[in-house]
Amino acid sequence: MLDLLNKIFIWLQRWVQGIPSGLAHLYDRLATRYLEPSYEHIVEELRDKTSGEGLIVEVGCGTGKLLLKIAETLKPMSVMGIDISRAMIELSKRNLSRSRSRGLVDLILADAHNMPIRNQCVDLILSTSTLHHIRQPKRFFDECARVLKEDGEAWIYEFSHDAEYEDLRAIKTPRIFLKILAALHGIPRRIFEKGYIKKALENGGYRYKISYQGAVTKLILGKT
Ligand SMILES: C[S@@+](CC[C@H](N)C(=O)[O-])C[C@H]1O[C@@H](n2cnc3c(N)ncnc32)[C@H](O)[C@@H]1O
Repeated sequence: MLDLLNKIFIWLQRWVQGIPSGLAHLYDRLATRYLEPSYEHIVEELRDKTSGEGLIVEVGCGTGKLLLKIAETLKPMSVMGIDISRAMIELSKRNLSRSRSRGLVDLILADAHNMPIRNQCVDLILSTSTLHHIRQPKRFFDECARVLKEDGEAWIYEFSHDAEYEDLRAIKTPRIFLKILAALHGIPRRIFEKGYIKKALENGGYRYKISYQGAVTKLILGKT
């Protein structure tokens, strides 16, 4: 049942791509409430990885809440958010406008398949819950490899509803609720392991690593 729901939602979200205006506002109010705790974890991972120097780009920045947390917590040199949805970019601007760190963040209306960024100038790409919207993952991974510096990495996070029940033990949200949210808003582990994402990764000549953190799958991509 969850597999079928997930198939339909991935198809729908890859077809729609950018979140339209009405849904963007709903997303800002509801979804980020559940997503924000996972941003804390990403900021902690970032703290270990970066001294704040260089350029961090978030692809599919949505409502800008992760960008805000990064800018306020790590005070990096430069952060950029890209989103294909004008409504989401406007929401990001609004959410960031309340912060003193807003000057650190650039927001750009652009497509992940064709990023308006020069070759080899990005230290870290972040992307959360966006890969399931991407129509051509191979083209997106190629774009990541193009804009990343030699030692740069892309960290791509997705919820996976096929995580084992055991793996979700530490999470406070009821597990079935989490699985339904992940089915509506994510890519299962098995698609990273043998589905269309695996195919895109294998045909690209990148270095990559997949790891699981509860219901979250993390893909790290770099140049070979
Ligand atoms: C489910 S939301 C996730 C937003 C945010 N990263 C988060 O974790 O809350 C997916 C975002 O990706 C954006 N998006 C979808 N397709 C895109 C594309 N091809 N290029 C850039 N952004 C895209 C959508 O507009 C939306 O804001």
